[in-house]
Amino acid sequence: MSIVWGYFTKVGSFYLNTLTKLYIPEKMSTTKLFISGKNWQLSLAELTAYLKAREAKFKIQFFSKEFFAISLEGSLAATVMEDLGGTIKIGEAKAQFSTAIVKEAFLKRSKEAQKEIKQFLASSGMVDAIVEAASDRVFFGVSVYCAEKQLRALSGVVQRFLGSTVKAELAGFGKKARFMGFAKDRRVAQLSHVEVLKKNLVESKAEVLFCIGKEESWIATTVAVHNPFEFQKRDIYKPYQRKIFAMPPRLARIMVNLSSCTADKVLLDPFCGVGTVLQEALLAKAKVVGLDINGWCVKAAEENLEWLVREYGLDGADFRVLQGDVAKMVGKIGQDMVDCIVTEPDLGPALRQVPTGPYAQKIIEKLEPLFFGFVKEAHRVLRVGGRLVLVTPYIRTRTGQAVTMPIGEKLEEAGFVRINPFSEDMFVEGLQAQSLLGLLSLVEMDEKHKVGREIHIYQK
Ligand SMILES: C[S@@+](CC[C@H](N)C(=O)[O-])C[C@H]1O[C@@H](n2cnc3c(N)ncnc32)[C@H](O)[C@@H]1O
Repeated sequence: MSIVWGYFTKVGSFYLNTLTKLYIPEKMSTTKLFISGKNWQLSLAELTAYLKAREAKFKIQFFSKEFFAISLEGSLAATVMEDLGGTIKIGEAKAQFSTAIVKEAFLKRSKEAQKEIKQFLASSGMVDAIVEAASDRVFFGVSVYCAEKQLRALSGVVQRFLGSTVKAELAGFGKKARFMGFAKDRRVAQLSHVEVLKKNLVESKAEVLFCIGKEESWIATTVAVHNPFEFQKRDIYKPYQRKIFAMPPRLARIMVNLSSCTADKVLLDPFCGVGTVLQEALLAKAKVVGLDINGWCVKAAEENLEWLVREYGLDGADFRVLQGDVAKMVGKIGQDMVDCIVTEPDLGPALRQVPTGPYAQKIIEKLEPLFFGFVKEAHRVLRVGGRLVLVTPYIRTRTGQAVTMPIGEKLEEAGFVRINPFSEDMFVEGLQAQSLLGLLSLVEMDEKHKVGREIHIYQK
């Protein structure tokens, strides 16, 4: 199958695709390409939870650690990139074709197949859009994301091919152009999100994404890019910080999205520390409540939230931070009062070395009363249908086996139902998604860390 979007002629309530002569219904969904952060499963879980919470109609057409292709009815919110913690780039597909053509063109070096790819690009209207947005001299980039093993080593070749094709087309428009990010200067045939941001390639519609899937491939224009400086600002410029215990704002935002939190919902973080989760939820326009046993944390979280409100001009922001013990949370918060609980309790001591299995087990057992006591209270403060997103420790051990906390049983005993990060209705029919459907929780673990995070999603 090959579809090129770009030259559509409207005939009645259908669009006639002049290249393939296919009739496509008017209420056609568009395909978006998503490039994720390091932890692609977590990023995809966040993205799908975000879309579901907004009742968006979507289907995952393809997923891999390199990129996701998702067909979506209607458009994405203008703020989608700021709303997501785990997505680096979003592209709008302009052409879709079989990966067999890409293999022909670059593995077998078929001139015919190369010509076909040039045609897809020409018909996509992408170069016309670059010309329209451009001033005098054009600056553009090409990034190749390849999920097909056989082609991966040729990503640089594909990048150069597309770069010269775009350059030649631009010359046809009388535009001089500079192609940025040649593979020979770098490890991957891709522009980083910071490069795209700094060179304003979204505004100038001048980054071409070439996403090669196992069966299908896409050519897309980057329409949004992650701004790491905003997240960094919230991490290191807030007035109160706690380097070891605090969570990175990007992860906090991902967890807020996993809880299906949307504007005006009430979100509680009962182990709020310096308020990282609360900050991200407040930016998502939720009403937030924090609780911490430590008086210094309560003051720190309050001041950080006040700083956030000033910094981001959040008029009407609704927040409060209370001092107290989670074991008596209902007394402080009330019963059936919150829509979402997103939280990371203590994860044990900072470890100097990778522990033995028995020592890791001891750490877990010592933490269990805090977690198990919290679970019961959490069920009482949540409204029916409300979600809990909870981090438990994931401890690396010397044998390579991780030691985790058996929290599922306790959550179910308290009346919670587990929500798997992925469900069948998210995928197009026939897509092999067992690897994702079988995931019961999500793990976030940096290679250099000894204790990672296991993230659970439950519903009352
Ligand atoms: C891992 S930290 C949370 C970090 C937080 N996400 C942040 O970004 O700052 C856990 C927090 O739980 C608080 N805590 C520990 N035991 C508690 C309890 N029984 N009730 C309430 N808070 C408690 C600690 O004071 C600490 O601030």
